[in-house]
Parts: sequence; C-alpha cells; structure tokens
Amino acid sequence: MADPTFTPRVFSGIQPSGGLTLGNYLGMIKPAVGMQNSGDFETLYCMVDLHAITARLVPPSELIHNTREVAAGFIASGIDPAKSMLFNQSQVPEHAQLAWIFNCVARMGWMGRMTQWKDKAGKNAEAASLGLFAYPTLMAADILIYHATHVPVGEDQKQHLELTRDIAAKFNHDYGIEFFPLTEPVIGGAAPRVMNLQDGSKKMSKSDPSDKTRINMTDDADTIAKKIRKAKTDPDPLPDAVAGLEGRPDARNLVNIYAALAETTQQAVLDEHAGALFGHFKMALADLAVSKLAPIAGEMQRLMADPAEIDRILGDGAQRARALSAPILDQTYDIIGMLRS
Ligand code: TRP
Repeated sequence: MADPTFTPRVFSGIQPSGGLTLGNYLGMIKPAVGMQNSGDFETLYCMVDLHAITARLVPPSELIHNTREVAAGFIASGIDPAKSMLFNQSQVPEHAQLAWIFNCVARMGWMGRMTQWKDKAGKNAEAASLGLFAYPTLMAADILIYHATHVPVGEDQKQHLELTRDIAAKFNHDYGIEFFPLTEPVIGGAAPRVMNLQDGSKKMSKSDPSDKTRINMTDDADTIAKKIRKAKTDPDPLPDAVAGLEGRPDARNLVNIYAALAETTQQAVLDEHAGALFGHFKMALADLAVSKLAPIAGEMQRLMADPAEIDRILGDGAQRARALSAPILDQTYDIIGMLRS
C-alpha cells in the first residue's frame, strides 16, 4: 500500500522517440486517462525528452516533432490539460537537478544490474552514453520530484520502479528522514503486453523495421484493418477458455487486444467467439480497433496542425508542474545541506 501521508499523485512518462503504438496506448495512455478521470489522483504526464537523447542525439527537428506528437497522442486519447499536467521533461529543470543527487545515492552495482541497460547497451557498452547508464536515476527523479505515489507503466519498467524505491529508501535511511514515498507501480493497465502482430512471442515495438508488426496510433482506418487481417494466427478455431490459448502466442495476442479495446476480459471474448476461425474473428477485431483508434488518429492529426497550441499547453503544464517540483527540490537541498542564500 502507498503511504497514506503522501497526496495520491500519479506520474508517468513516455519517450518522444518517434511513433506511438497500440502497445503505448493500451499499456500506458489508456490507463493514464482512467486514472485522470477517476478523480482519485493528481495526474502528471510527461514527454521525457531528456531520456530520448540517451540512446543517440537525435536531430532537433525530429525531437520537437516527436514531443508534440506524443502530446497530441495523450490529448487525443482523452488526457485533458485542464485536469492533468501535461508537459515535456526539459521544461521542468528540477528533474535533472534531482537526478544528479540520485546519481550520488544509487550504486554502480544497482545500475549495472538493470536489464534494460544491458539490452540497450548490448555487447558494446563502452560505446554507450553515460546518460544511457544513468537513465534509471533520471526516471527515479521524474517520479520522486513530485513525491508521486503511483506510476502506470508497462511491465518492462518494473525493475526501474524497484530501483526508484531502493533510491527513495536509501535516501530516507541515510538522512534519517521519511522524505520520499515508496512509489507503487501500476503495471500494464488493461493489456499488460501487446505483442508483435507477426510474431506473438515478441513485444510490439516502434523500432521494429517492419511496419506490419504494429499498429501505430497515427494509422488510418484502412491501415489498421489491413494490419489486423494480415496478422499472424494459427489454423485452429478460438478455444472456449483462456487455458486453451496456452502455447498459441499469436492467438492469445489478438484475444488480449480485443479484450483491452472492448474493456472486457479475455474469457468474455472467448465466450462470445469460441469456435470461430481467425478469418472471422479478425474481421470483428478490425471493426472494433478501427472504431476505437481511427478517431484518435484523426484527432491527433487535427492537433498536429496547430503546433503553437500544443506548445502553449505544454508550457502551461510545465508551469503547474514546477509549482510542485520546486519546493520538493528546495527541501531536498535543505536535507542534504546545500547552502542557498
Ligand atoms: N522509461 C520509461 C519507458 O521507456 C519512460 C519513463 C521515463 C517513465 N521516466 C518515467 C515512465 C517516469 C514512468 C515514470 O517506458
């Protein structure tokens, strides 16, 4: 349970590194909208542009475009800038300031065990940026600079959330003060793992070279329907129970996507479609996906036509976020003994 002494506050971030997929939508954005609308939390949603340059320094125009596109994706999906604070990370300097402190709290050993670091650095860790290694301390700072209590993320971020708790606990312990909360991950939302449409054993990814493997949030109705019709399946009909999806990753993925889009359970989907062949089920799924996603793509396109309005929204969100982050940084500096006069 989250500590009751902290205001219920949600923070989550997405890297503006190009192309939002159905995986981002179902795994993170949709739950983020739900948490906003529940009224149970203050909600902050962030385009983490400082994180987006850790893998490589991207051309500036690309970073700007991607930042605006992710913002448009949030708004088109139902994030209301009047209810949530929506902003890009670099506009709130306290993230980077707290990250430095956390670089001095986290241990090299903890960081070296991060599986995402190992995956992304690969065999040539010598050539990876120092920023890529420090990625998780910046992420911890993103969360803890607001004393956020809940973080909706995909399953692949679980280890980074554990590190965030370790950093909070070590800071609190070393300074003998209960200052940072031990943040709860809210894993996976409606669809914990949205998989590759051509290989159900791999995650759906914006970086896969083949566009057929994913649904992009900017895809139009025809493209969505076509990708679903061409998704890999097996020759057997749909089973009547979830256990029957065992060992059938492609089938399971489509049922999972259907359930998440329809806001129901996998079993309820099977109750309705048991015995159907995939040709038939894919038509139903295509209709459902088009009805849910095509309007969002259209709205994103409309928003992207007015970048000045997006920038205004992000500037306003950043200002409201800073009203929360600045006092927490001040208190952190006081605890540490950083003199300010
Ligand atoms: N690492 C996250 C991802 O790739 C993005 C992220 C950065 C994030 N800072 C965050 C997510 C803080 C949640 C909270 O998905």
